[in-house]
Amino acid sequence: MGRRDFLNLLIGSAMLAWGGLTTAALVKVVTPPARRLDGSAKLEWLEVGPISTFSETPKPVAYGDETVYVYRLNGKLVANSATCPHVRCVVRWDQAKSAFRCPCHASAFDKAGKRLYGPATRDLWAQRLRVQGDKVLLGGGTPAV
Ligand code: FES
Repeated sequence: MGRRDFLNLLIGSAMLAWGGLTTAALVKVVTPPARRLDGSAKLEWLEVGPISTFSETPKPVAYGDETVYVYRLNGKLVANSATCPHVRCVVRWDQAKSAFRCPCHASAFDKAGKRLYGPATRDLWAQRLRVQGDKVLLGGGTPAV
């Protein structure tokens, strides 16, 4: 390979890499996150499954680029964001402890999403939910925070 071919290959590779990064940045801008930093929802109502698929055990469902746990609590269907209000790690449901636990800095929340302990200073964000026929939908603007 000659010097000219090598330089053309180098310039072509750089342009491809730049194009890929630019495209990724545009996709991130065009695809809004499910929630703003203040906790308010951005997405419109989004169907997440039939009501029969949700039990007492929190089930993670995709809501935009976020995860939301949907489950029954005292017979009522509820939804809580899996985004930790501390610095936005994803909390996990711990069945043995019956709590949501954050793997980043050890905040914990009870099944209702209330803060138990850790550096998070607030509860998990409640996600607005509605049932339409046998379908569960999340979203619809700002949840009660
Ligand atoms: S991000 Fe969850 S405790 Fe820090």
